[in-house]
Amino acid sequence: MERFSPAWAESWKQALNDSSSYRFTARKWKGPLVLRVLGSVNWWLDLEAGQCNGVRSVSGEEAGQAETVLAASASDWNRVLDGELAPLVAIMQGVIKLEKGSMIRLSRFSKAASDMMDLAMRLEAPAPAAGPDPRFAPQPLPDPVVHTSFRTTSAGLDQDSLPMQLYHKAKKLGVWDPMDIDLRADRADWVRLAPDEQDVLMRLLAMFQAGEEAVTLDLLPLIRVVAREGRIEEEMYLTTFLFEEAKHTELFRRVFDEVVMRRDDLSGYHTPSYRNLFYEALPTALSRLDTDASPAAQLQASATYNMVVEGTLAETGYHAFYSVLESRGIMPGVTEGIRLLQRDESRHIAYGIHLITRLVRANPSLMGVLQSTMTDLLPVASATISELFAHYDPMPFGLKEEDFLQYAMDQFGKRMRRIELATTLDQSVAE
Ligand SMILES: [Fe+2]
Ligand SMILES: [Fe+2]
Repeated sequence: MERFSPAWAESWKQALNDSSSYRFTARKWKGPLVLRVLGSVNWWLDLEAGQCNGVRSVSGEEAGQAETVLAASASDWNRVLDGELAPLVAIMQGVIKLEKGSMIRLSRFSKAASDMMDLAMRLEAPAPAAGPDPRFAPQPLPDPVVHTSFRTTSAGLDQDSLPMQLYHKAKKLGVWDPMDIDLRADRADWVRLAPDEQDVLMRLLAMFQAGEEAVTLDLLPLIRVVAREGRIEEEMYLTTFLFEEAKHTELFRRVFDEVVMRRDDLSGYHTPSYRNLFYEALPTALSRLDTDASPAAQLQASATYNMVVEGTLAETGYHAFYSVLESRGIMPGVTEGIRLLQRDESRHIAYGIHLITRLVRANPSLMGVLQSTMTDLLPVASATISELFAHYDPMPFGLKEEDFLQYAMDQFGKRMRRIELATTLDQSVAE
């Protein structure tokens, strides 16, 4: 059956209506969606609560009346339909253009979009056989119970490698002491804030506090895998990484002790999506490395830790702090701490991009693991932001949900493009 033909579109509609998974993931979607194949056809899908009530080809003018319009060339749609690119990732990278509609709304339906594309793919190819993909089979840790050689007494350290560059930077920039930050003016500013202003800052602080503790607690299995693989340069850098996370944990606790002056249980500030990410997804992905050191497990861990938690959510959190504190010129100690902490985090994220790129270069099919991790977790990240905003009406400090969701998506998109570029460049060099 020819892709994008009327028969193909009709079979797709049938497949959507027969799919219990799609019925569930798209149960809250309302409104027509147009898929434009540039220079060819516009498919109008009448979608309503997990059902497709009709699919028809429409003119460009009529297509513009749909609430959501996605456009791409046939070859780019084929990349998605061939499973090379997850739909949400393709949209964020601009491969599929969102001509009309809300990115934020789409990001909440990434599972439904993924189901739609899976069903379209299966129109042509039978569903893969059930059972685990052997390429992603679990692997125990390599076991050098004895060492057979040492890098520093053979080839020497690879000083040009990114991990060594990050390590040298960390020795200079990552040694600031949270105890040196003067928080006295912050306390004076804090008591002058209105109760709802204090509440929103407390919520942000409580999210960061537990988040820093979680990344401190959860990093170790990754360091262990890297060490077992004999990657001394990466391990040297990771020693600074964990030290820095510990200091970030310390810094936020100082803010609670000396500025907010609260020692009660703050977990009420952790919303369901926050808990999903920090109480479950992050420790699960990282602790998996204790028993499964496969490249797929490493990639899932790094994507969760470096791309979603650090690269998307934490970056958006700093943006929130700066928006509030710098615009009002208040709490100079916290502002300074956030600036120092963000500089450390930029190295952490750079390491994550390095690790993911290294893994994907060695095995390009792992790009699929990266995309499925993102498809699972990006909606949770955006829901975490939305749940924060849902507690306030009006939102103090004039913060706008749409701005922050867009900021989060931009941060993520930027890093994905770096990974795509790095892996593509390497392949063309290798060819
Ligand atoms: Fe941190
Ligand atoms: Fe970090």
